[in-house]
Order: sequence, then C-alpha cells, then structure tokens
Amino acid sequence: MTQRSATTPYSTGMLSNGAPRERDRLESIQGSVDAVTTGILDRLGIQPSWNCLELGAGAGSIAHWLAARCPDGRVVAVDLDTRHLDADRATNLEVQRADITREGYAPGTFDLVHARYVFCHLPNRDEMITRAASWLSPGGWLIVEEPYDLPAAHSPFPLVQRILAAYQHTYREAGADMSWARSLPSLLARNVLDEVSYSGNLGCLGGREKDRWAPLIDRAAPALLASGLITDTDLTEFGRLLRDPEVIDIPQMTISAWGRRPLVARSH
Ligand SMILES: C[S@@+](CC[C@H](N)C(=O)[O-])C[C@H]1O[C@@H](n2cnc3c(N)ncnc32)[C@H](O)[C@@H]1O
Repeated sequence: MTQRSATTPYSTGMLSNGAPRERDRLESIQGSVDAVTTGILDRLGIQPSWNCLELGAGAGSIAHWLAARCPDGRVVAVDLDTRHLDADRATNLEVQRADITREGYAPGTFDLVHARYVFCHLPNRDEMITRAASWLSPGGWLIVEEPYDLPAAHSPFPLVQRILAAYQHTYREAGADMSWARSLPSLLARNVLDEVSYSGNLGCLGGREKDRWAPLIDRAAPALLASGLITDTDLTEFGRLLRDPEVIDIPQMTISAWGRRPLVARSH
C-alpha cells in the first residue's frame, strides 16, 4: 500500500462501524443490494485466478462472494474498521485496515475493483474514481455502486416525508453527497474506461417483510432526533406505519456503474 494525505469523516460519529446497530445496518444494505451486485459481477466474466479489491468492505458479503469465485486468485477487503469482516475468512481473502483516501495500491494491481456505498461519503470522491481506476490491470473492471436519494417531499406519506428529510439532512451534515451517483457513468468514461454501463435498483421502505429501511432509521435515530427535525413520537409512529401493508415507498435508488481499463493504453 502507498500512503497519501487526506481525511475522512467516516471514522467517527453517526457513520462509524463501532456505533450501536451498525451491524444491522450493514446487513440490511447487503440484503437489499447483494443480488444486484453479484448479478452485475457475474456478467463480467470473473476468472478463478483474478485479484480483486473490495473498497470499504463493511460486513464483507461481496468480498466473501469474490473470494469464492476466485479460488486461485486473491481478494483484498479494505476498510477503515474491519471488526465486521473477521468471521469465516477464506484463505484467499486478505483483510486490510486502512483509510482508502490516504493509502493506495501500485498501478495495475487488480483485475477487479468494487466499491459500494463508500465514495459518496468521501470528500475526494471524484478523485477516488481516478485512483481506483489506476489500480486496475489492463482489461480490469471498476464497479462503483452508490445511493441516489429521491426527494423526501415526494413521498406519499407526510410522516415519511419528515423522517426522510431528517435522514437526508443528517447525511448531508456528515459530509455525504447522496446525488453524486448520477455522475458515475461520466466519471468512469472521463477516467478512460471502456465499455461503460450502468443500471439502477429501487430501494423499498415499508411493504412489510420487504422493508429495508427500519434498520437504517433505527441506526440513525440519535442523529435524527439531535437534528431537531423529528421527535421520539415521530419515530414511534413511523414504526407503527411500517406495519401497515399499504405503506410502500421508494426513498432511494442505487446507481451501479462499471467500466473496463483498455487492454492497450489510450489517451482522451
Ligand atoms: C455503508 S458501508 C458499506 C459497506 C459495504 N461496501 C456494503 O455495501 O455492504 C461503508 C463502509 O465503508 C467504510 N469506509 C468509509 N470510509 C472509508 C475510508 N476512508 N477508507 C476505508 N473504508 C471506509 C466504512 O467503514 C463502512 O464499512
């Protein structure tokens, strides 16, 4: 790994991996998007010998999946905080604790680099695309997946409008850009990647067992209350609302974009 200087807001505060209920939040994320992610990865022709890098690996579902797909290769799973990555580690899965805004890899190291729900939190998110692309070997793939918030005010449920407005406010205050995902396809193209493609996956709030948002709101509850935008009563009422089978909403989508480093170097 190579060192460089920058900072990240993720290591402390409401987004830290050490916060209560973070494991629930990470598992909820995995439950809602893993099938989409692995569907995309499956179409890229992963080879058993590939070296892969999972940036901001979280609870590690994608790192483990890649390790199973690349038994003759190696998967590096890097995170600021690796406490959720340690269980049942495959022999070809290497866990690294590092800040990806400060540390990096030699150019051309990986056949595949994947990042999900990480770059939107980083101050140098555009630059992270350039850096991640530089770590690809010729023909290697960069896949980036980030959340894109739909307007809170467009929810059909007034209480959900307020809860989501508070949620979006606290993420903005924590330095996240939840609209940046829209620039992913063009950023990949600008970084001289070929075969740029993208797709979107709608999130689900409510819908009973399909709900993926209760753990996210639970996890953020202290910050939401501290914002002064909602009250304890709102949160209790929200819990009740989610038990109503007619309450179904789309608070966010995930935009996935991927591109490939040309086999032969080309200029812009
Ligand atoms: C929302 S979680 C997503 C986890 C996983 N990528 C997923 O989609 O299931 C973001 C993860 O990125 C990690 N992270 C945030 N900033 C980071 C940084 N600067 N360097 C390394 N990891 C970082 C966090 O610790 C956290 O585990």
